Amino acid sequence: MGAARVGERGEDWDWATPATGQLPPEVDTTKPSIARVYDWFLGGKDNFAVDRHVAEMALQIAPGAPEAGRQNRLFLQRAVHHMAAEAGVRQFLDIGSGLPTQGNVHQVAQRVDPAARVVYVDNDPMVLAHGRALLATNGSTTVIQADAREPRSILDHPQVREFIDFSEPVGLLMLSILHHLNDEEDPAGVAATLRAPLTSGSFVAVSHFCNPGDAAPESAQQAATAEKVFNENLGTGRWRSNDEIKEYFGDFELLEPGLVPLAGWRIEPSPEVRGSVLYPTYVGGVARKA
Ligand SMILES: C[S@@+](CC[C@H](N)C(=O)[O-])C[C@H]1O[C@@H](n2cnc3c(N)ncnc32)[C@H](O)[C@@H]1O
Repeated sequence: MGAARVGERGEDWDWATPATGQLPPEVDTTKPSIARVYDWFLGGKDNFAVDRHVAEMALQIAPGAPEAGRQNRLFLQRAVHHMAAEAGVRQFLDIGSGLPTQGNVHQVAQRVDPAARVVYVDNDPMVLAHGRALLATNGSTTVIQADAREPRSILDHPQVREFIDFSEPVGLLMLSILHHLNDEEDPAGVAATLRAPLTSGSFVAVSHFCNPGDAAPESAQQAATAEKVFNENLGTGRWRSNDEIKEYFGDFELLEPGLVPLAGWRIEPSPEVRGSVLYPTYVGGVARKA
C-alpha cells in the first residue's frame, strides 16, 4: 500500500461527501471552482475534470503546489491550536473555509475544548452541501454560504450572530482567501470590516500568495507567471507584496515570527524541509488585538 495522499481523509473525518446526484443545482461542473481546484491539490475527491485541468496547468509552472497547499493546512492547524490552547479562544470565524479535508478548524479547536464554536463561511455551493452533513453531527459548528466581498452580510448573518459572541475573543481566519479577491474588490477593506467588531484578545490569521519582488527575483518571476495562469483560468489569484499583506492585520500586533513562509511559522523546519518548502511565494502570520 502506498503512502497516504496529502489531505487523505483520516479517522477524524466527520463530513460526509454528498453523492454527485445529491449536489445542489448551483454546483456548476463545467467551470473550475477555487474550492475544488484546491481540493485536488490536497488529494481530495470533490473535484471534476475541469478543476483537474486547471490544477494540472498550475502544476506545470509550480510543481510544489500540492506541498504548498499542505503547508497551508499545517499552518492553519498550528495557528488555530495556538489560539485555542495557548490563548483560550473558543470561537472561530473561518472566511473562505474551503471543502473539508483533514485537520479542519473545528477538529483542531474542539480537541482543545469540545464546546468551541466554529462558523465556516464560503461562497462555493459545494461547501454548503458538505456543511449540511456536518450540521447533523456537530452542534457547535455551522456553515454558511456568503461572499467575503460583502463582509457586512457575514457579520449580520443570523447564524454568525447565534454562534459568535463578539464581546468575547474571536479567532478570525482569512486563510488563502484574500488572494482570491482582486484589487478592485478591496481586500484590505474587507479585512478591516471583519476585524472591526473583534474585542481585545482576538486574533486574525492570514495566509496569502506573495510576490517577494527584488528580495527573491526568481520567485518573483514564478509568482508573476503563476498569477497569469490563475487569472487566465480561474479569473482570480493575486500574489501581493509583504507590505500589502501586512495591511490585512490592521493595528493587531503580529506574533513572532511575523509574516513568514508558511512552513516557518512557529516551527523549526528540518534542514531538508528548510530548502524545499520555505516558499517565499506563500506566506502567513497571526496577529492579536492588544
Ligand atoms: C484556497 S481555498 C482555502 C481554504 C482554506 N481557507 C484553507 O486555507 O485551507 C479558498 C476558498 O475561498 C473561497 N472563496 C473564494 N472567493 C470567495 C468569496 N468571495 N467569498 C467567500 N469565499 C470565497 C473558495 O470557494 C475556496 O473554498
